[in-house]
Amino acid sequence: PKSLKAYAARKGLLYGSAAAYSKLSENQEFARRFIEECAILTPENDLKWHKIHPKPNDYDFSRGDWLAEFAKRHKLKMRGHTLVWHQSIPKWLKETANPQNAESILKEHIMTVAGHYQGLIHSWDVVNEAIEVRDGHPLGLRKSPWFQWLGKDYIDIAFRVAAEADPHALLFYNDYDLDYDIPHQNAKREAVLNLLRSLKEQGTPIHGLGIQAHLSGPETRFNAEKLKQFLADVASLDLKIMVTEMDVYDRGLPYDYEKRDRRIAEVYEMYLNTVLEEPNVIGVLTWGLSDRYTWLSKHRPRNDKAPVRPLPLDREFKPKLAWESIANSFASS
Ligand code: G3I
Repeated sequence: PKSLKAYAARKGLLYGSAAAYSKLSENQEFARRFIEECAILTPENDLKWHKIHPKPNDYDFSRGDWLAEFAKRHKLKMRGHTLVWHQSIPKWLKETANPQNAESILKEHIMTVAGHYQGLIHSWDVVNEAIEVRDGHPLGLRKSPWFQWLGKDYIDIAFRVAAEADPHALLFYNDYDLDYDIPHQNAKREAVLNLLRSLKEQGTPIHGLGIQAHLSGPETRFNAEKLKQFLADVASLDLKIMVTEMDVYDRGLPYDYEKRDRRIAEVYEMYLNTVLEEPNVIGVLTWGLSDRYTWLSKHRPRNDKAPVRPLPLDREFKPKLAWESIANSFASS
């Protein structure tokens, strides 16, 4: 096969990537490569609350609609990201929400946004990053604005409303720091499992776990057995699993492209070989396709200021070793 989506498809898996409206719409070469490599698209920022619901009675679907149309035209599936998050909460919401009105604001938002894209979305990240064991809550819940307004029930509420608004979409809980054998991440996996278990027990309509997999190039403390056990535990709850936001940052790796790319590729392959052993994994998305467009240039810049290389394609949209690794992992899964 010539593309990552073709390697994935041979095993009944999806490969795709996040992308921003601003990049896909302005760079035709990028759009062409995106369509060649990907079977599924996540809007990187365009469906987030502050973008899509900038004022109390004002929704802006323009960028999301463009992406949905793009996906449809090129036969890509589309993910929804994200309905409930502690970030990208617009100022108006922070200023007006309180324990009395937050539930109805949340329901209205989810009905409107998930309703607008009803039938077009493969899977929604209904709730994103609700666990932060370091926040000290006994259940490991993050003390996010939503938690402050509504307590732990906001999670169940969000899934129920999303199911009503779009009965066809798979509904996912999505989170990061679930990958390594270090105390914080071990505790976080445990807390996520407890959350998923309790949601299933309550009858919350949840269908999957999204594992973001933002990995570090220099310090990868994998324990394949622990990771596999976690995925098996999730699967035993009758939940699907997707790797939703994978990338491997290269801050701390040598400047030399060959060395850097080799290490990054190694991390991709090691991680995916382990994860793809779990039969409930249905797909892998990277958080960006090309090194030209990655959140890491701004959020994890290298000390030597050299351009970062965390993704499968380089800045000219040519496959790197990481591309080969992802392809190999699909092929050997
Ligand atoms: O578009 C404006 C630009 O006009 C302005 O000049 C510039 C000044 O800082 O900011 C630009 O907006 C930035 C936007 O990314 C587009 O690049 C925001 O400041 C910045 O906060 C925003 O970051 C996004 C971040 O989520 C926060 O929403 C990243 O692009 C996006 O990749 C990142 O994605 C998250 C997932 O949603 C959840 N999981 C982790 C992942 C990585 O942090």
